[in-house]
Amino acid sequence: MKIFITGGAGYIGTHICVELLQTGYDIVVYDNLSNGSTEAIHQLKTITGKTAVLIIGDIRDEARMSEAMRGCDAVIHLAGLKAVGESVEKPLDYYDNNVHGTLCLLRAMQANNIKTLVFSSSATVYGDPVKLPFSESHPLQPTNPYGKTKLVIEDILRDLYHSDSKWKIVILRYFNPVGAHPSGLIGEDPLGIPNNLMPFIAQVAAGKHKFLNVYGDDYPTPDGTGVRDYIHIVDLAQGHVKALEALSVPQCTPINLGTGQGYSVLDLVKAFSNASGKEIPYEIVPRRAGDIAEFYADPSLAQKILKWSASKTLDDMCRDTWNFQSKIKCVPKSVGK
Ligand code: NAD
Ligand code: WQD
Repeated sequence: MKIFITGGAGYIGTHICVELLQTGYDIVVYDNLSNGSTEAIHQLKTITGKTAVLIIGDIRDEARMSEAMRGCDAVIHLAGLKAVGESVEKPLDYYDNNVHGTLCLLRAMQANNIKTLVFSSSATVYGDPVKLPFSESHPLQPTNPYGKTKLVIEDILRDLYHSDSKWKIVILRYFNPVGAHPSGLIGEDPLGIPNNLMPFIAQVAAGKHKFLNVYGDDYPTPDGTGVRDYIHIVDLAQGHVKALEALSVPQCTPINLGTGQGYSVLDLVKAFSNASGKEIPYEIVPRRAGDIAEFYADPSLAQKILKWSASKTLDDMCRDTWNFQSKIKCVPKSVGK
């Protein structure tokens, strides 16, 4: 089978490419390189011995994308903007890129008679917890434009399926993906100052920042800091292979990809220090606007439907992150062509 992967040159996409290539799929990566890395695509050959086709293009260029996906059997749709804070400042960019881009993708899929889709959604669609752990039936009430784009796209997919029951759709709601491929050849290397906790901690360990700002220690959690469900990127990527395999019958199914285990900010600080052998100095500062105290997944549906569950530990996540971060000094990231 040949899989068309939008956003496949990004952090999550490259790790999915590894798992697909190693499982025997052929892949076409379609990416505008706005945050993707051609080096990461080149590393796929080193890691897997196989090559991926990379076509540089924007998902909003429907004609180019339709041509690029010709002959593919299914789509994994990752392309999009994903920074919550930025989405508050630039909502039109997020609706244009994520929602308009997805409409172009779906029309291109229809034109090619491709009706098998894995969509990259986010636990952010759940918003403030009514009940924890988050199950797929939790109310969908995102509180930021980014999360709202994900919900709008999910609703588009549900309406599409109800209009044409030939569609086979799985909506994967990721919790907090972290870590890197054990080879250390691909991983998360954000442009600029990282918004997310794990890459920021990794950069403190690497000496790029003097200390970590801990956004509040007055939450109703065991140590007062925010609790999240961190999932190793390789576990997450393998969940996508399982999702493709589950798409044998028409459906439109949302499924959480998480571990079901929450860890606090200070849990990560301690685990990363143990894994890297580095001190991680930190300062407690006021809460970050929009942050939720804690959330974590009910992962049981993924186990039931995908026969998949996360297996890597927090130590694996920290060790693999540090292994990748340590190598970044040798190969500066170059985004774009
Ligand atoms: P990323 O920025 O590393 O990857 C996104 C990729 O999409 C990049 O390579 C970028 O160049 C490409 N892209 C963006 N807009 C595009 C466009 N208009 N046309 C073509 N390519 C475009 O981000 P990521 O962390 O790998 O996230 C991938 C997907 O997973 C996103 O949809 C994101 O919303 C979702 N997600 C991420 C997280 C997370 O914490 N990283 C959590 C939940 C969901
Ligand atoms: C985790 C915890 C912070 C940075 C975000 C998006 C979500 C998804 C995953 C796309 C929180 C604390 C963080 C720092 C800190 N992305 N923190 N100091 O906010 O759970 O989720 O990424 O879909 O949509 O919202 O992840 O890593 O930013 O924060 O104390 O420098 O770490 O307060 O408790 P988050 P995060």
